[in-house]
Amino acid sequence: MIFTVAIDGPAAAGKGTISRAVADRFGFAHLDTGALYRAVGVKGGDPVLAARGLTPEDLARDDLRSLEAGQAASRVAVIPEVRAALLEFQRRFARRAGGAVLDGRDIGTVICPEAEVKLYVTASAEVRAHRRWLEVGGDETRVLAEVRERDARDMGRADAPLRAADDAVVIDTSDLSIEEAVARAVALVEARLVAV
Ligand code: CDP
Repeated sequence: MIFTVAIDGPAAAGKGTISRAVADRFGFAHLDTGALYRAVGVKGGDPVLAARGLTPEDLARDDLRSLEAGQAASRVAVIPEVRAALLEFQRRFARRAGGAVLDGRDIGTVICPEAEVKLYVTASAEVRAHRRWLEVGGDETRVLAEVRERDARDMGRADAPLRAADDAVVIDTSDLSIEEAVARAVALVEARLVAV
């Protein structure tokens, strides 16, 4: 069975948690596409060569979730050749047999416009910054500034900007618990699975 769940949205909206839960629930493979950009960003050197030569070790680095790695990721993510180098791998992953969940910024719009389910997971910048601060610590004001800066760069870039696909279902997690957000996503996938 080919079945793709595309989950897009801004930083720290809850995409990762929802994606992992949906993948677990239905036995689908999961790809955190942000990790690809983070790995390119922290590798240093020419980002286009880094994207073309990305290795499993690059993706296993333990510093990929830092604020700095997030910023580095969004800076290399504006480069069309970097995005092009990562495209085929993501497309193949999306259409692999057995079902796949991919979370990122352009999954429903560019990587897999034919995805069976498209979710756009969002929340207010303050709520998202608070969640990220609980994860990484430090100064919460700085985390909020970082989230806003990255949103602006991701939404404003020319190539594959962050936006909800026209046929995406929007889930605003500002006032939802993790369980509620996951339950909504699971219900949408279940409803679509019945139809395939
Ligand atoms: O976890 P969080 O939402 O903070 O970020 P992430 O998903 O790990 O993505 C890090 C950065 O990579 C984003 O801010 C984007 O600039 C870039 N990215 C992208 O351009 N396209 C994707 N499909 C995924 C991430």
